[in-house]
Amino acid sequence: MTDAQYAISEWHDTDAIYARLRELVRQPIRPIRRDRMNEFIGYFETKCICSKALTEAAKQYIPGGVQHNLAFNYPFPMAIEKAEGPYMWDVDGNRYIDFLQAGGPTVLGSNYAPVRDKVFELLQSCGPVTGLFHEYELKLAQLLNRLMPSIEMFRMLGSGTEGVIAAIRAARAFTGKKKVIKAGGAYHGWSDQMVYGLHIPGTGRMEAKGIPGGCTRDTQEFYPNDLGQLRRLMLLNRLRGGTAAVIVEPVGPESGTRPVPRDFNQKVRELCDEFGALLIFDEVVTGFRLGLGGAQGYFGVRPDLTIFGKCITGGYPMAGGVGGRRDILMRFAAGIGGSGERAYVGGTLSANPLSCVAGYYALLEMERTNAPVIAGRAGDRLTKGLNEIIARYKLPFVAFNQGSIVHLETSGVMLLDFKNLLKLMREVKPRRHMMEEMGAAYMAQGLITLAGSRMYTSMADTDEVIDDALGRFETVLSSVEGV
Ligand SMILES: Cc1ncc(COP(=O)(O)O)c(C=O)c1O
Repeated sequence: MTDAQYAISEWHDTDAIYARLRELVRQPIRPIRRDRMNEFIGYFETKCICSKALTEAAKQYIPGGVQHNLAFNYPFPMAIEKAEGPYMWDVDGNRYIDFLQAGGPTVLGSNYAPVRDKVFELLQSCGPVTGLFHEYELKLAQLLNRLMPSIEMFRMLGSGTEGVIAAIRAARAFTGKKKVIKAGGAYHGWSDQMVYGLHIPGTGRMEAKGIPGGCTRDTQEFYPNDLGQLRRLMLLNRLRGGTAAVIVEPVGPESGTRPVPRDFNQKVRELCDEFGALLIFDEVVTGFRLGLGGAQGYFGVRPDLTIFGKCITGGYPMAGGVGGRRDILMRFAAGIGGSGERAYVGGTLSANPLSCVAGYYALLEMERTNAPVIAGRAGDRLTKGLNEIIARYKLPFVAFNQGSIVHLETSGVMLLDFKNLLKLMREVKPRRHMMEEMGAAYMAQGLITLAGSRMYTSMADTDEVIDDALGRFETVLSSVEGV
């Protein structure tokens, strides 16, 4: 595939982005003016009455009232009734431009009819699940192999988290080594061993409540982009059980919130080869969002194992899995009577016909329509427009994108780290609150973002949708202190 088949029209100048991000974090925060913020909060109190009532009632039966980590909780969670293309509607009938896109998988846009029709057809014939083999499992695995040649074999599971668990288990079984190294701040799901160095680099077990120390004993983190530190860890690991695998998100932790230089993945590949470790790409977000060849196709780097998540079914449930080298994947051979060499994986509902048919047709539709590239161009337009607004109002904020993954850093909370502990301790709360407020203000203006700092665009985002969104962003960004 050529660059023209990928969502990224031009790799960003990573050094220039970090220079702007450092400057943002160096400065005091620039939150929304209080009078304006009160108006934005007023929207929720007057226009979102049913959402408030429903999520209040939910608090009685559901811890905290929400079950999605990506949900907005400020000032209170929203209850959604309908999603289609670029829009979502809440239970009060308010319409939003949807840049959450379910956390990334719906590159075709929400609730895309041609895929939905195929799912309906299958449901009429065999229902969602039988417990036995269905032809769509084969079709999906074959399609993956055609789109991403490194996927010689594929094992479907229920989520990205499960894909990560399986990949690490296979890596240890295959190499006979112990340590698994991740980039600090990266999220690779919530398995015991991966709740380590979450969100903020250097935080190690800070979020590992309820997880015994032994579970993370062989998990390590390196500071994002610090290949020297990664090499030193791998060198030391020779004396302490060896490095089984290095796992990275190819665009950088948190979907590229901490972006990587273009040659980063190739260098990690070389280190893995030098130390006999497996390279695992976590393509839960990038797989198919960057293009049908994934980030590995875009960067031209072949991982040993690839983790898939929500994108593998275009957003339909029970979505995840691991694919890669035949000699490693054979460790997962299932069925009654697996051999002692087997790395155990399972899941009653994994690889069910519903998920497989949805994935198969979602990927075919993405290929037919060139959806990743169209979504990427929408991301470019959104980023360019945001940067124009930032420049016009002389704001310290930073917008950049990797195709259809768009970052808008206003509070800089995601860029704090343990290298400056005092600053981290002092500023993490106010900066996080500012991010929450920005998210709420965007929402009050009819924009749903991911946690107030990230947007996923889709094929449904026409120029008109993006230009409409930019007008709304401008209303919020022109309301910050000092404008
Ligand atoms: C990069 C990455 N890896 C793994 C996961 C976990 O996937 P899941 O939520 O399907 O368990 C996510 C989820 O957002 C992710 O973004």
